[in-house]
Amino acid sequence: MNELDSMVDSATAAFAGAATPADLENAKALFLGKTGRVTELMKGMAALPVEEKKTRGAAINLAKQAIEAALNARRQALADAELQAQLHAEALDVTLPGRTRGQGGLHPIALAWERVESIFNSMGFDVADGPEIENDWFNFTALNNPPNHPARSMQDTFYVDMNDEQGQPYCLRTHTSPMQIRYAVAHVKKHAAAAVAGTPPETMPEIRVIAPGRTYRVDSDATHSPMFHQFEGLWIGENVNFKDLKVTFLNFCKAFFETGDLTLRFRPSYFPFTEPSAEIDIAFNSGPLAGRWLEVAGSGQVHPTVVRNMGLDPEKYIGFAFGSGIDRLAMLRYGVNDLRLFFENDVRFLSQFQ
Ligand code: PHE
Repeated sequence: MNELDSMVDSATAAFAGAATPADLENAKALFLGKTGRVTELMKGMAALPVEEKKTRGAAINLAKQAIEAALNARRQALADAELQAQLHAEALDVTLPGRTRGQGGLHPIALAWERVESIFNSMGFDVADGPEIENDWFNFTALNNPPNHPARSMQDTFYVDMNDEQGQPYCLRTHTSPMQIRYAVAHVKKHAAAAVAGTPPETMPEIRVIAPGRTYRVDSDATHSPMFHQFEGLWIGENVNFKDLKVTFLNFCKAFFETGDLTLRFRPSYFPFTEPSAEIDIAFNSGPLAGRWLEVAGSGQVHPTVVRNMGLDPEKYIGFAFGSGIDRLAMLRYGVNDLRLFFENDVRFLSQFQ
């Protein structure tokens, strides 16, 4: 192999050994640069006789072209490799399933809660909200359930180690019944202001309200949770009676369960804040629960003492109240047999209600 061929070989090898474009430019300089081997060979020709110059020059030129061709091939190869690497790094697998944004929905209790509100709304009931940390007066005493009354033991609760400005101990409300007093007192006050503005007192509109919300008791099993949901109903006017209660609650149940095929009964009971008092039971006449009486609410005619604590004259105003468990209604409506499922937040359970 002559000297020129071996130079072309070593240039090709040097280019092949260059891993980056910068390495390649350095390798190029060794052969084609100002002091590179090809340049040196050209310079060396000066001393040759004219005839030899021609052939030697042509041979060196051929070698130079071969080196340039090798250089260009390597440049292209490096550029291709870089592009491949980039494509690989940015690889997109279009067959992968997309990352979807999970769709949220309302909790079954919230769904039941909303149903309760919209049904009672459609029957002309206002919807009110009140505090979950309640004082002793509203939760018990104003509801004709004074300290040391044995009925208090029906509703053991969580007490807050703090009293309000009147020295009343705070507790977590055991029922939504305190909202009877809170709402009625506000209603009476509002009406008194209207009376001052010239509206005769006789025109006080009836009190017709439901108050849904969280309630607390020291209770925990498959059908009782220490935190649960109730809604209070209150309807007070000059001539509101048990018949109105029955019609109201029956119509509510029919709308809530979307069936006309159910029966309602009152079962005598006791609550300090109603007299007479009754549990409301319903029975579906068909379907999987047919024929079984299910307790869905406590109710009764509002006790005169409670009416008085609302700021109203019990000789003139009369009405009824009821308190029902939203969780219980949701269990019946959706066929859930363990209340605790509602509070475990397992999406496999919750997503079934969407
Ligand atoms: N507050 C009662 C309870 O939680 C239910 C009730 C409300 C009963 C209104 C009568 C009237 O058990």
